[in-house]
Amino acid sequence: MKFFKILIVTFLFLSTKLISQTPTDFLSKEFHKDRREVLRSKMPENSVSVVFSNSIRNRANDVDYVFHQDPNFYYLTGYREPNAVLVVFSEDQTDENGNSYNEILYVQKRNKRAEQWNGKRLGVEGAKNELGFDLAFNGIDFINSKIDFKKFDKVFIEGKFKDDHRNSNDNADVFKLVKSFKQKSGYNPAIFLSPMKKYFYSLIKETTPEKREETVARIKGLQEQYSELKEDKFIQNYINASDEKLAQDYQQKVSLALQPQTNIDLDFFPSQMATMREIKTEEEMKLLTKAVRISAIGQVEVMKAMKPHMSEVELQGIHEFVYKKYGAEYEGYPSIVGAGNNGCILHYIENNKTKVGNDLVLMDLGAEYRGFTADVTRTIPASGKFTPEQKAIYDLVYAGQEAGIAKYVIGEKMSTPRATAEKLINEGLVKLGIIKSVDEEHPYMPHGTSHHIGLDVHDPGNYETFEKNMVVTMEPGVYIPEGSPCDKKWWGIAVRIEDDILVTDGKPVNLSGEAPRKSEEIEKMMAKKSVLNDFVLPDLDK
Ligand code: GLY
Ligand code: MN
Ligand code: MN
Repeated sequence: MKFFKILIVTFLFLSTKLISQTPTDFLSKEFHKDRREVLRSKMPENSVSVVFSNSIRNRANDVDYVFHQDPNFYYLTGYREPNAVLVVFSEDQTDENGNSYNEILYVQKRNKRAEQWNGKRLGVEGAKNELGFDLAFNGIDFINSKIDFKKFDKVFIEGKFKDDHRNSNDNADVFKLVKSFKQKSGYNPAIFLSPMKKYFYSLIKETTPEKREETVARIKGLQEQYSELKEDKFIQNYINASDEKLAQDYQQKVSLALQPQTNIDLDFFPSQMATMREIKTEEEMKLLTKAVRISAIGQVEVMKAMKPHMSEVELQGIHEFVYKKYGAEYEGYPSIVGAGNNGCILHYIENNKTKVGNDLVLMDLGAEYRGFTADVTRTIPASGKFTPEQKAIYDLVYAGQEAGIAKYVIGEKMSTPRATAEKLINEGLVKLGIIKSVDEEHPYMPHGTSHHIGLDVHDPGNYETFEKNMVVTMEPGVYIPEGSPCDKKWWGIAVRIEDDILVTDGKPVNLSGEAPRKSEEIEKMMAKKSVLNDFVLPDLDK
């Protein structure tokens, strides 16, 4: 009997997997629940966190952009629709019937007509059954609810509202949910200081009478550049104070302004999310690794397929075709495919050169798989062979990357890989005669090398030291645009090599290592035949 039961349960399980024609390998509801538990465990007594979903963004006229969930919201709920709000309480609350709860998800209301046009909605029942919330309501219930946010010691939100949601015909869109929250909580953006003001207010607060002159000189030196400092009445009063007594009075006012009189806190939530999201769980690692491998395999296929007559956008299409073939939903960020001088534009996304010719082609792309995005760059010669100049720069960047990757070990500062790569690259640039000395300020290596990836391509984190199960890019680059103050033979060479590195107890693991990186290995891969060689379409111009 028991055997049959097991058989039937197994059959039902397998058949739902087989019958289901949509992906089933998203993060589990247990994962999201656990993340909410961790957040709750960090929240102080009598506090509440309020997190909003993303809204629908308009592209043009009656066409909207493809919806993408806010990564923090997704991390905590698994909900993939707009117009929702999550409320997490530090302790159990009791409703009028004596039932207790410690979290509520408010979701988009089900609507037959809207679902006929734009697809199925999970609704309240779906939020309970599929996402595992005990308590879920429609968005309008949040607007009509009497939640008294003023009674909490702390109300945590994701930072100052950017107010970039559109007011639509929907009676519970994010615009209206946020508006309702602002009314309920008494949110007043004017009392929150910008990071720059916070910094200078703190500086003034901590300035002793002996150091006042120094602080005043520092602020005066910067106020031309930053109008925010010039227009701030507290700062102006402080720097113009005619005597020490007045200066101290203004110092006092600044200290008070540093502690806005509100229970709304903008810092706690983002900081907790950074701490949680920078370390990947096993479940996240499976999906993230898949996103990275898909992206690396895209690079391999393009290495085989690339021909000088191809356009940048065609190459982009091959990468993205590989992503879609693996079932990746999106690209994690706009794809960058830049030949020659175009590669010098760091976030070049026009990808509109019609022939890559014999240039180096810089390709920075990442598949997004079940919400997780890779970030992988390869730079390869369209002809299949590096010229001596291209190879010299390429091998230098490669050496810098290798030296940097070796520093992805537990406890090492996250700034070390860039410093290590930069030192090596500067020495190389001197040897090649591109710069004169290793200390020379130069524009050829303008960006950082190491950011977390995850649900965001630039994932939040504390950016202090490497810890186990972080996944961080290592992406040195050297860019020599046309007209640079060096021998012309280097002009138009742009090289970035970017890999996604997992920090472990032992050696760092290169998750994107399936795509060749060494110049010789790239040339070998490019000599291989591509199945796309036979994919010839009709010529529409004939
Ligand atoms: N693709 C963006 C970056 O490399 O950071
Ligand atoms: Mn990157
Ligand atoms: Mn990148």
